[in-house]
Amino acid sequence: MNRPTILLTGVNGQLGGELAPLLRPLGDVIAADRNKLDLALPDAIVAAVRGAKPKLIVNAAAYTAVDQAEKDATTAHAINARAPGILAEEAKRIGAVLIHYSTDYVFDGARTTPYTEDVPPAPLNVYGATKLEGERAIAAIDAVALVLRTSWVYGLTGKNFLLTIRRLAAERDELRIVADQVGVPNWSRALAEATAHVVASGLAAVAERRGLYHLSATGQASWYEFAREIVGDRARPRVLPITTAGYPLPARRPAYGVLATERFSQTFGFSLPDWHDVLARCVASPPPAATA
Ligand SMILES: NC(=O)c1ccc[n+]([C@@H]2O[C@H](COP(=O)([O-])OP(=O)(O)OC[C@H]3O[C@@H](n4cnc5c(N)ncnc54)[C@H](OP(=O)(O)O)[C@@H]3O)[C@@H](O)[C@H]2O)c1
Repeated sequence: MNRPTILLTGVNGQLGGELAPLLRPLGDVIAADRNKLDLALPDAIVAAVRGAKPKLIVNAAAYTAVDQAEKDATTAHAINARAPGILAEEAKRIGAVLIHYSTDYVFDGARTTPYTEDVPPAPLNVYGATKLEGERAIAAIDAVALVLRTSWVYGLTGKNFLLTIRRLAAERDELRIVADQVGVPNWSRALAEATAHVVASGLAAVAERRGLYHLSATGQASWYEFAREIVGDRARPRVLPITTAGYPLPARRPAYGVLATERFSQTFGFSLPDWHDVLARCVASPPPAATA
């Protein structure tokens, strides 16, 4: 059987770094970092897809600096909104499947029960708005695509809450963490494994199931509860709950972003475990295999 060519963007990111080794057994992976493919440059995207002629494009790249996006909306828009549209157009042109990721930040967080895919989005910040535009661009082009929304991504590399709390825990006696924002932490490797599992079912099966899905561990937590779980039962640092108002940031965040995952589990036949179990697995694991 012919191995499909897979074009993977964002290979230096949390998710991209975990995807690369897991996709390699499933195809010939062309792993692109920003130097190889700058998603801010439309012509470069077109050239990369036409050059690689992939059967599958996995777009793990994104502008994820939520606060910075408030003053850099043009760049965030180029990467999160325009680039996915171009990838979708090029995928459609060559009959490739596109897998793309989005975020719970497309919602305003006014609910108190998990968001299904049918709830109308209403982003509170530039990052969420640009990610939503990216989703809509893919849908408008009617590409054969899976759009997987997830939340609170952490991992053993990159910039994320787990590594920040570990660093601060070594430096400080006390951590003050926001307790009035609730969501679900997701390990990048578990998301990558779920993606690889879906791809392993075959691209025809993926194409049949095209659409928008919420992919997340189960359970829920505030950032405070997530930090307490990371710190564990050590006596120091003390972890104290604070409110969002006590920790002002440039971008507004949804107070609640739990994603309902039934559509994904019913369609693909599996679901991710509770986030506590996923975190326990993460902290006991080695970092992802080198991507070079
Ligand atoms: N992080 C979260 O908490 C979170 C939550 C919900 C959804 N998501 C979504 O999950 C997906 C993966 O996110 P992640 O956490 O893995 O993000 P990440 O660790 O920030 O990685 C994003 C990658 O995109 C790359 N990138 C940025 N601008 C680029 C450009 N102009 N051209 C090419 N590559 C560019 C970055 O490259 P450099 O390494 O060169 O900067 C980085 O490697 C994204 O779609 C994100 O929106 C993330």
